[in-house]
Amino acid sequence: MMFEDELHELTRQHLRRQLKTVDSATEPVITLDGKPVIQLASNNYLGLANHTVVESAAIEAIRHYGVGSGASRLISGNQTPHQELETTLAQFKTTEAALTFGSGYSANTGIIPTLVGPQDCIVADRLCHASLIDGCRISQASLRVFHHNDTTHLKQLLEKRAGTQKTLIITEGVFSMDGDLAPLPELVRLANEFQATLLLDDAHGTGVMGQNGRGCIEHFGIDPNELVQIGTLSKALGTIGGYVVGSRTLIDYLMNTSRSFIYTTAPPPSMVAAAQAAINIVQSDSDRRTQLWHNREHLYQGLKGIGFQLTTTQSPILPIILNDPKRAVEISARLLEYGIYVPAIRPPTVPKGTSRLRVTVTSEHTSAHIETALRAFETVKKELDLKNKTE
Ligand SMILES: Cc1ncc(COP(=O)(O)O)c(C=O)c1O
Repeated sequence: MMFEDELHELTRQHLRRQLKTVDSATEPVITLDGKPVIQLASNNYLGLANHTVVESAAIEAIRHYGVGSGASRLISGNQTPHQELETTLAQFKTTEAALTFGSGYSANTGIIPTLVGPQDCIVADRLCHASLIDGCRISQASLRVFHHNDTTHLKQLLEKRAGTQKTLIITEGVFSMDGDLAPLPELVRLANEFQATLLLDDAHGTGVMGQNGRGCIEHFGIDPNELVQIGTLSKALGTIGGYVVGSRTLIDYLMNTSRSFIYTTAPPPSMVAAAQAAINIVQSDSDRRTQLWHNREHLYQGLKGIGFQLTTTQSPILPIILNDPKRAVEISARLLEYGIYVPAIRPPTVPKGTSRLRVTVTSEHTSAHIETALRAFETVKKELDLKNKTE
């Protein structure tokens, strides 16, 4: 009964979530609940989730290694693809070593508690992803939150902490729900000034930012030895799994202490081999990134031209702020009627009062897809503006 009451309350507040079923690969046009629609909803930024070379790598690995790894990495689940992927990741991110996890979520929840504990202090950006916040909670370190991207506030919080406390500063590179970038050079400077460790989650930057797709570190020209970098293989790299890159000593330490690495079965070799193929494509095929940024500009300018209020995004994530969850759901549903799928993102994924449509574009969308989507956005905006005036 209690569950029903809770669900009823979520419905009343327009915050209840429901699953939609996709019966196709995650391409620009998907079959959603049985209907073909243009999707502007996936993090498959470079189209690698269904790239033939990535698929073949997975199939070959299944033939050679089977579908499951059979044990945790430290028992007998550490197969050749796991080892090779970590070597490739470290080279790609220009660090000494890398360690992979089952997901970005488990990387974040497993790594943070190894870096700080109950006596220590974390200062995290207000818009950090739930997996980072959960990692902070598990660590039991005292958690302070600085206003989004506000380095003056961060500095004030760092000044206030007890000087002896080990301190971790946490940020994302590209913020997942806002699409803007962290001021990384200043964060690195503050971390050095206050002898803190900077932890960067570059889930949405990897493959997308920087000339070679190495992420926000490359974009800002930062030395990777200045921080600890976490990420996921599940966005631009199109597969599944989390990772951390850094010094050999750090990686050895995490391999020995991170519970979400130690106490779980090694990821399936097929996905590991697929991720490795995806990284190779990111490094060898810069045309995809060029096309992604071209498409991003087309859609961004189009949405602004129609009169939508976007965040200060600097990435292929183009959120339209609507504040009211009811309005976000209503516009998302109306767009779907016109064959465009854009999800409504509501609290607790984003702060209260900042519900939005999270529009994402990939290298695989054509100009025609983008133009069709823009026409639908324009029609829906006119319909709803009209409705607001007559209400
Ligand atoms: C910033 C950020 N970190 C971590 C994750 C979790 O990654 P994964 O989906 O691989 O668990 C996500 C997305 O889900 C994310 O946006």
